[in-house]
Amino acid sequence: MTLLHDAELTAAFDRGADSYDRLVSLNPGYHAHLRRSARRLALPDGGAGRRVLDLGCGTGASTAALAAAFPRAEIVGADASSAMLARARGRRGLERVRFVHATAEELTADGGHGPFDAVFAAYLFRNVAAPDAVLRGVHDLLVPDGRLVAHEYTLGGRRADRLVWSAVCRGVVMPLGALTGDGALYRHLWHSVLRFDTAPEFAARMRRAGFDGVRVLPLPGWQTGVAHTFTGRRHPITADGAR
Ligand SMILES: C[S@@+](CC[C@H](N)C(=O)[O-])C[C@H]1O[C@@H](n2cnc3c(N)ncnc32)[C@H](O)[C@@H]1O
Repeated sequence: MTLLHDAELTAAFDRGADSYDRLVSLNPGYHAHLRRSARRLALPDGGAGRRVLDLGCGTGASTAALAAAFPRAEIVGADASSAMLARARGRRGLERVRFVHATAEELTADGGHGPFDAVFAAYLFRNVAAPDAVLRGVHDLLVPDGRLVAHEYTLGGRRADRLVWSAVCRGVVMPLGALTGDGALYRHLWHSVLRFDTAPEFAARMRRAGFDGVRVLPLPGWQTGVAHTFTGRRHPITADGAR
């Protein structure tokens, strides 16, 4: 099947925005895992004095995880889909967040709204047409020693991981997507995970984009071997010697 990209994918998220929160709430661990990954940014002092970007913030589920982990941070959420963003703007508890309607490509190309001390990207990189370019752009949006946490469905590389993922999609995700009329979006989810990097491949991609200290961390529950957290840092000294 052909995966959705760019405007087509954004249109699918625009259509799926109304049912998105209901569907993910049926996924055991969805919110807890986002909170676990957000905490892995490990910003000191509740994030006081730090600027954090939630890239591909969607309806604000990942933004809420960030806000809980770092109640003192300044948070910016950005997404390509206006309908997903509209739900994020209306989410309780996120009144202090500034939401921006922009693609990851636009934000990283013009350095807009940066620099950031940390970037969180949950379920984003698998969806962008040119992940290497966006990763390099995210790297350049960060201050020296700034942190990236990516949270992504990425298979562990064992045959069993692919089988679990396809069983969950065939048995649960696709029937629910069909019920809400979002079959195309959830078919994209299924196949994009099968085609995207395995966890070691995505870690290597982060290293090639310039990130230091890249680590792959597991997530518990049925997502073991299916979803991972990736952490990395921009080098503490930039090419021009600035700290
Ligand atoms: C699966 S949702 C995840 C939303 C949120 N981060 C969460 O964890 O619930 C992916 C989001 O990424 C956004 N997205 C996909 N490609 C994008 C791009 N190139 N630039 C900005 N946002 C993008 C979609 O519009 C969608 O809201």
